[in-house]
This record gives sequence, structure tokens and C-alpha cells, in this order.
Amino acid sequence: MPAVVVIGGQWGDEGKGRVVDFHSRYCSVIARYSAGNNAGHTIINERGKFALHLVPAGIFRQDNTCVIGNGVVIDPAKLLEEIKMLTDRGVSTSRLMISQHAHVIMPWHPLIDRADEELRGELAIGTTGTGTGPAFHDKVGRSGIRMADLLDAAHFRWKLRTVLEYKNRVLTRLYGLEPLDAEEIEARYLEYGNQLRAYVGDTISFVQEAHGRGEMILLEGAQGSLLDLDTGTYPYVTSSVPASVAAGGAIGIGLGPTAIERVVGVYKSYQTRVGHGPMPTEITDGGDMEMLREGLGGAAGTAEYGTTTGRPRRVGWLDGVLASYTARINGVTSVALTRLDSLSAFERLKICVAYEIGDQRVTTLPATIADAVRAKPIYEEMPGWQEDVTDVRHFSDLPRDAQNYVRRVEELLGARIDMISVGPERSQAIVTRDIFGAALG
Ligand code: GDP
Ligand code: IMO
Ligand code: MG
Repeated sequence: MPAVVVIGGQWGDEGKGRVVDFHSRYCSVIARYSAGNNAGHTIINERGKFALHLVPAGIFRQDNTCVIGNGVVIDPAKLLEEIKMLTDRGVSTSRLMISQHAHVIMPWHPLIDRADEELRGELAIGTTGTGTGPAFHDKVGRSGIRMADLLDAAHFRWKLRTVLEYKNRVLTRLYGLEPLDAEEIEARYLEYGNQLRAYVGDTISFVQEAHGRGEMILLEGAQGSLLDLDTGTYPYVTSSVPASVAAGGAIGIGLGPTAIERVVGVYKSYQTRVGHGPMPTEITDGGDMEMLREGLGGAAGTAEYGTTTGRPRRVGWLDGVLASYTARINGVTSVALTRLDSLSAFERLKICVAYEIGDQRVTTLPATIADAVRAKPIYEEMPGWQEDVTDVRHFSDLPRDAQNYVRRVEELLGARIDMISVGPERSQAIVTRDIFGAALG
């Protein structure tokens, strides 16, 4: 069986959590392979509404294993909180595994995250402040602490003291902050290690063996391709290594790239972004902005506010240029188009099909931030449908104009749309093919 990666095709929050929750029924392993608790994945199913930041969205099925892979950075306190929240709500986490090689977010990381943002001035990114970026800096800078380090007290004591001596110099001399206390951190993190010990193991061998037995593995991406270090709107991106794009899935879980045969690209029917950076199709005021931001016309209770930070998401029309670029970057073989219901209130809809930059017509990611800021979207207009679609379960039952919108997006993406989500709940979807590409119903 192939491994399948689910990735975000925009700036994150496309609805990856709900798509993974839906498809996890077909898979025996569901794994996160990148990022940290900067991610926030919302799932609404028969157990209620959940916001997951580290635990894979497959945790609600009782017959599979959820893995937090080697490519993830873990804030142990946040993970323990998430495990407790799930357990308190009757969701078992006994089948959760954590890679011994996953890096740990340490107390200096959120401090540095916030201090860096201040120092960046006009280049501030609008990070989540979770310490995720600095934890990846330490990974790349080879001074990271990994989950296995927390499980061996003597080794951790030595490593922490060595790293902290360096970090305290940076905190005090560069940032003008107070030094951190080694003893306090040592006691606290060893305790986290004790509480998480039962979950930590060799996930690379586990996943490889499951793959070898022909079991289905679903890799749950975080963020979106436009937030990726290499493929995104740099420097207004996140710092995950490996990347959240599909190619990172293999590295972040320990499979060879040939194991991944299918890539599901999750795209919102319009565009959102949290944090700073260019967004050519952004709508900055007026009724259209209000309609998208507050989710008017679509399913109730799904206004566009960040799952992790609660910040209002910036909103805009679907950017077909960037969507087609990320479909190619990821090798998308199947698309899940989400929040079609959120467009129901509009009389007319716009899709950006190219940019005008100076006297040039551009149809891919602009070369620099300056170009992206100058890019004037060239729009195609389409009639809206102005009908509630949240109860539709078959494509042919969608209003004709909604069908046309979906078909046009499909054309721009160059990949088949196999799932259209029309509401946040598990059942609110039109699904024509399963995650392996087999036709349904
Ligand atoms: P993720 O980070 O990609 O998992 O996405 P988030 O969970 O951060 O954000 C997606 C938001 O859209 C959440 O509030 C979901 O409940 C909601 N959502 C997902 N699919 C749909 C849909 O089809 N319609 C509506 N109205 N909301 C949806
Ligand atoms: P999910 O998985 C949306 C954004 C932040 C900021 C930038 C860098 O829920 O789609 P960071 O804290 O990572 O250094 O912030 O990236 N960002 C996200 N935006 N969804 C996410 O994850 C995000 N993860 C990071 O808002 O602009
Ligand atoms: Mg999110």
C-alpha cells in the first residue's frame, strides 16, 4: 500500500485536520511529520469539536496508531495538555507514539521567538510565538535537545548544562534577558520525560515495518506550501525542517520517497493568511471581507480566526496562480476543496488567474517580496450561487454555478477534485473518491 501525504496548498488552515479525520478510517497509521504546536487543526466529529496542535487527527479512531514523527518539534507541556484534554473527553491516546528523534521546544525558544520578532522591525513575520521557529533553528544549528535526551537523567543533565551555558549567553548578552535556571529546567523536563516515556520510541522502524506489511500510512501535513522555507513567500514563512510540503513527508517520518504514491492537496475555496507577508488577492475592507472573515452564508460558527492564536485571518479571493504553483510543487494527485459553503452568500466570485507586475503578465510566484506586493491580480469573474450547500452530498446536487466554480478550480490546479467540503463536520462533504483514488458510490 502506498503512503499518502495530505498537504496544505495555501498559507495553512485549509482544513487539513478535517480532511485527515475523514480519511483516517482507511489507514492504520496516521502521522504528523513536520512543524510543532504552531499548527492548529480543527476537527468536528461525533465526539465534539477539537483543536489539535501536535496529536494527529487520526486519534479519534480506535483501531489505528498515531505517530508524532522525527520531523516534528514538541513542546512537552503542550503535548501533555493535549493528551489530558483528549483523555478527559474520552478519547484514548494509548495508541500514540512519539519519535525519540523529535526535537524539544525548550524554555528559551518562546523567549527568543518573541525577542526576534521585536528585533526584526519591519521584517517581523507575525509568528505564533510558540517557540517553533527557534526550536528548528537549534535543530539546524546542531544544539537541539531531542525526546530521547529527556529519558536519560544523567545524559540530559550534562546536555542541558552545556546547551544552557551557550543559550544564557545569547539571552543575556544579545537579547538583554534574564538567564534561565538550569536546575529548575532540569527537574521540569525530566518530569515531562517521565510522563511521556511510555509514548516515546523508534517510530522510524515502526512506520517502515507497517509500510512493509502493506498497511496504509497517512502523513498529515501542517501549515501550507506558501509558508514553506523553500517554496513559500520567504521570509514570511515558517521554519520547519523538513518542509511541510509533500517531499518533507518522507524525511519527517523516515520512509523513502518512493513510498509516497499519492499527494492530497487541501485547498480552501478562497484564500486566507495569518501573520504578515504579501497576499496579492487580499480584501482589506468592506462587505466582501466581512462575508469571508465571518463566514457569513456558510456553516455557522466557522468564522476565520486562528486556531492557535485566535488572530483574525486575512481573507481574499482564490489565488489560482499560487494554487497552481503549489499543486505542481507538491505533485498533487488529488484535491480536497474546502469551505465551498463559505462562498454561498456572494452574487459574483473572483478567481485570480495571473498578475500584472509593472508591464509584465506573471503566472507564477513573484520573484521577490517587492514584486509580490506590486502584483496586481488579474481576475476572472464567475456568477455565485447564493444557495445553502451545507446539506449537499452529491456533486450533481450542487447548484450549476457552484459546479462551474469547482470545475474551474480543478482546471487551474491540474488535478482532480475528489472531495468537496461544505461544512466543518465530518459528514459535511461530497466525496467521489477515497484516499487511494478508488471511486466511491
Ligand atoms: P487546518 O490547520 O488546515 O487543519 O485548518 P484549521 O482547522 O486551522 O482551519 C479550518 C477552519 O475551517 C476550521 O475552523 C474548520 O472547522 C473549518 N472548516 C473546515 N472545513 C470546512 C468547510 O467545509 N466549511 C466550513 N464552513 N468550515 C470548514
Ligand atoms: P496549520 O497547520 C496558519 C504562520 C504564522 C506566521 C508564520 C510563521 O494550522 O495550517 P511560526 O510560529 O511558524 O514561526 O510563524 O507562519 N503559521 C501558520 N498559519 N496555519 C498554520 O498551521 C501555521 N503555522 C504557522 O501565523 O505567519
Ligand atoms: Mg490551522
